[in-house]
Amino acid sequence: MLISLEGKRALVTGGNSGIGEAIVDALSEAGAKVGINYVVHPETAKKIVTRIRGKRGEALALQADVTDPGAVAAMFGRMDEAWGGIDILVNNAGIDGGRALSWEADGGAWRKVIEVNLMGAFYCAQQALKRMISQKSGVVLSISSVHEIIAWSGYSAYTASKAAVGMMTKSLAQEAAPYGVRVLAVGPGAIKTPINRSVWSDPAGLKDLLSKIPLNRMGEAEEISRMVVVLVSDVASYVTGRTIYVDGGMTDYPDFARGG
Ligand code: BGC
Repeated sequence: MLISLEGKRALVTGGNSGIGEAIVDALSEAGAKVGINYVVHPETAKKIVTRIRGKRGEALALQADVTDPGAVAAMFGRMDEAWGGIDILVNNAGIDGGRALSWEADGGAWRKVIEVNLMGAFYCAQQALKRMISQKSGVVLSISSVHEIIAWSGYSAYTASKAAVGMMTKSLAQEAAPYGVRVLAVGPGAIKTPINRSVWSDPAGLKDLLSKIPLNRMGEAEEISRMVVVLVSDVASYVTGRTIYVDGGMTDYPDFARGG
């Protein structure tokens, strides 16, 4: 089976690092034109654009803070100008906010996590769906997390934001379905990226993390990006309104391999 995204116009938020960067590369390899949204480190976004253009792909670096609806609208305007619209949105930009027990957490920091992970995904989905509904095609895919359904002490804002992304995905999918537009999410488990470096670079932290993963290893960003390419392609034409977990079995609660 050949998956081709030839001629598709894609936008990946937070596309200049970690899972986002891998998604940008995978979409481009499948033939899509890719807008690489970033908020900081323009040099990394520009480097990725150069890399893609070097392989005869099409890419654009698009600066915008996804928490600012005006900036998001302007970014979609630049997609319109460059490529006449959008076919694939990947809401990938996200932060975990750092560990803080709820009674010690700073309200502003808590709000920031919700603004980036939830409001940012919503503002981008809103702009994308306006366009996709009128052209009667398109896919919105949000990067959620296993923490959409697994509680995580110290990360109440993060878990709340991801649970909300899951339910937003279902509701948007229902709204968009009559127009042939799919809305879905991918829930990565422990993928080795900068967001969890403090855990995997510490032997005790890594050992503890691996005990939570049946496949007994962390995932690679490419294991997420490959699934994203499948899901945004016509191979997955009947999949909508769901979060697909790509987690080495983490949501299978490995402690239940014994006892119970
Ligand atoms: C978090 C990672 C964590 C993983 C599994 C992800 O959503 O961003 O830091 O390792 O979930 O707990």
